[in-house]
Amino acid sequence: MTPDDCKRRAAEEAIELVRDGMTLGLGTGSTAAHFIKLLGERMRAGLRVRGVPTSEDTRRRAAEAGVPLIDADETTVIDLAVDGTDETDSRLNLIKGGGGALLREKIVAAAARRFVVIADASKKVAALGAFPLPVEIDRFAFGLTVRRIRETLAAAGLKAEVSLRKGRDGAAFLSDGGNFILDCRAGLIAEPAALDSALHAIPGVVETGLFIGLADLVILAGPDGVETLTSR
Ligand code: A5P
Repeated sequence: MTPDDCKRRAAEEAIELVRDGMTLGLGTGSTAAHFIKLLGERMRAGLRVRGVPTSEDTRRRAAEAGVPLIDADETTVIDLAVDGTDETDSRLNLIKGGGGALLREKIVAAAARRFVVIADASKKVAALGAFPLPVEIDRFAFGLTVRRIRETLAAAGLKAEVSLRKGRDGAAFLSDGGNFILDCRAGLIAEPAALDSALHAIPGVVETGLFIGLADLVILAGPDGVETLTSR
């Protein structure tokens, strides 16, 4: 089983949670892309749902798959959100944002009645932080914000390398909302909730990739089968 087979297997499990008439939060990334493809297949077989995309990339993929979309501000209810992750610990705390969609992903995940995470088994870690933590920041005076972020990480006891994410063309990467993303190589994060709060207290920080207490279910697929982690 390749990592991609594992991603698809996790998506197959999540598709079974979808019910007719649901409004779905559609995540971003290669694992969420499998879910969207499967959703398109189910729709051709008669399922009726509508999706709220968490990125422009997902908007395109969903349109291609034939999944009807609404804008996030057209609904106050999201029945189920399904998204990938870059890391999960056993308490269902996540690092997300490797694809740069963390802000919209977190808004949709937090609004959803149920947030289900799908991933290949390699995403499960004992402690978060091997994956560089993405932090989305406003572009205004961003050097000042970066300095405060470095200070905050140091105060949390983390020796972090903080870098501005670049796109393929070498220019600064911009999120769908037009913000910069910093990648913070901080090493293991012992207290993710406290770090998330401390980073949020910095003016200029738009969102962090720490998804704390949001996931209800994590579905991990690996060569040995499927493992599920639940919040209770
Ligand atoms: C997008 O910003 C991310 O949060 C993705 O959900 C995360 O990077 C997982 O991506 P893959 O499913 O491609 O591993």
